[in-house]
Amino acid sequence: MSETAKIEIDGKTFEFPVITGTENEKAIDIKKLRGTTNCITIDPGFKNTGSTTSAITYLDGENGILRYRGYPIEQLAEKATFLEVAYLLIYGELPKESELKDFKKSITNHTLVHEDMKQFFEAYPSQAHPMGVLASMVVSLSTFYPESQDPNRSDEAVDLTIHRLLAKLPTLAAMSYKNAVRHPFIYPKNELGYIENFLNMMFAMPTEDYKPNPVVASALNKLLILHADHEQNCSASTVRIVGSSQANLYASISAGISALWGPLHGGANQAVIEMLDKIQEDGGDLDKWIAKAKDKNDPFRLMGFGHRVYKNFDPRAKIIKKAADDVLEQLGVDDPALDLAKKMEKIALEDPYFIDRGLYPNVDFYSGIIYKALNIPSEMFTVMFALGRLPGWIAQWKEMKENKEPIGRPRQIYTGENERDYVSIEKR
Ligand code: CMC
Repeated sequence: MSETAKIEIDGKTFEFPVITGTENEKAIDIKKLRGTTNCITIDPGFKNTGSTTSAITYLDGENGILRYRGYPIEQLAEKATFLEVAYLLIYGELPKESELKDFKKSITNHTLVHEDMKQFFEAYPSQAHPMGVLASMVVSLSTFYPESQDPNRSDEAVDLTIHRLLAKLPTLAAMSYKNAVRHPFIYPKNELGYIENFLNMMFAMPTEDYKPNPVVASALNKLLILHADHEQNCSASTVRIVGSSQANLYASISAGISALWGPLHGGANQAVIEMLDKIQEDGGDLDKWIAKAKDKNDPFRLMGFGHRVYKNFDPRAKIIKKAADDVLEQLGVDDPALDLAKKMEKIALEDPYFIDRGLYPNVDFYSGIIYKALNIPSEMFTVMFALGRLPGWIAQWKEMKENKEPIGRPRQIYTGENERDYVSIEKR
């Protein structure tokens, strides 16, 4: 007999099915809860709520396991290319040679953005944060490809939108950077690989060629893979919920970029470097800053520490810490921020406050140090996260559509005023 869960309300017992995933995770299926009991559940931050079943990414927070479509993150980060991983996430299997060739060719064909988009960039203030620019540019793509707004397009048409987005995000990201530093835009070069092309658009000048350093390209490949998906996090859930209204893919991804921007999510990578700089400028007294992080009356948090799901260690952080050491050594960069970060990690990991709450360095703790060594400015760190996360968002959006999920629309328990009569302004 299949497992069930019983709930007792007002002396009546209701039974609900328990569903089990392929890794034996269990969930009480409460689809019929309100219909049968007239009750809903309350779960701020969705700490205990599964919004969907998904076959994309498996994450075990207790044991620090992360797998894309069954493949361990450690193997993918070591052996795969970012485009292979993108294909894997979006289409479910690692591509065969010919499939990867076609995928790359299609993406390469779509790297250019419409010339009219250049004018949008020029209208932004020079201090515009590249994440704000990127989110606007991505939703703007839907106006250049109005056919993408049809929710009933063929699979081929959806694929074209997916390839366009994968092709154009690095171009738009590099343009948002060039615009911020008031340098001329560099067009994509189709003979270059995905990552090398992005680096070229970021760092070449019309007057001078740029030769992407293979150490830099390889580090970036690894970082993008590590960020490529993370199941139902804040931005992925945003993408799915926006897409569930049948909003087009560009609009859904733009919403995901906005969600990622927040300092509690992807914005933490910029916040970590700013925090480390601030601590250094302040004299480097780590005990003082750790005490601030522990003080409930102080809003300061140790950025790059803690995770909603990982309560033991973040497997991505483990790989990134090692990569930071390797990259800095290979590039001959001596960044005191790395030493400071390591010292901070050591102190925090011995402190009962952090131990008791399961607070460990997350993916963002060391990534900024690598980006800095690759000469990527700190305002671009979260944009780099977005470049990496794009295939995951696309896979989540596609799965939501294929599952024919209903529009996302949580309920609430109302705690406001009961009915009262309108009072005219002179009597208030
Ligand atoms: N520094 C100090 N205390 C912390 C921190 C931190 N970074 N993170 C959590 N806590 C404390 C928090 O105050 C609470 O303490 P108490 O139980 O005494 O009230 C306890 O730990 C649990 O925290 P929470 O905020 O309820 O946990 P959450 O699961 O809602 O939040 C988090 C997860 C990632 C938002 C949070 O740990 C945080 O704000 N970290 C810093 C920002 C950060 O690095 N974000 C990047 C996340 S990884 C990249 C990504 O995928 O987005």
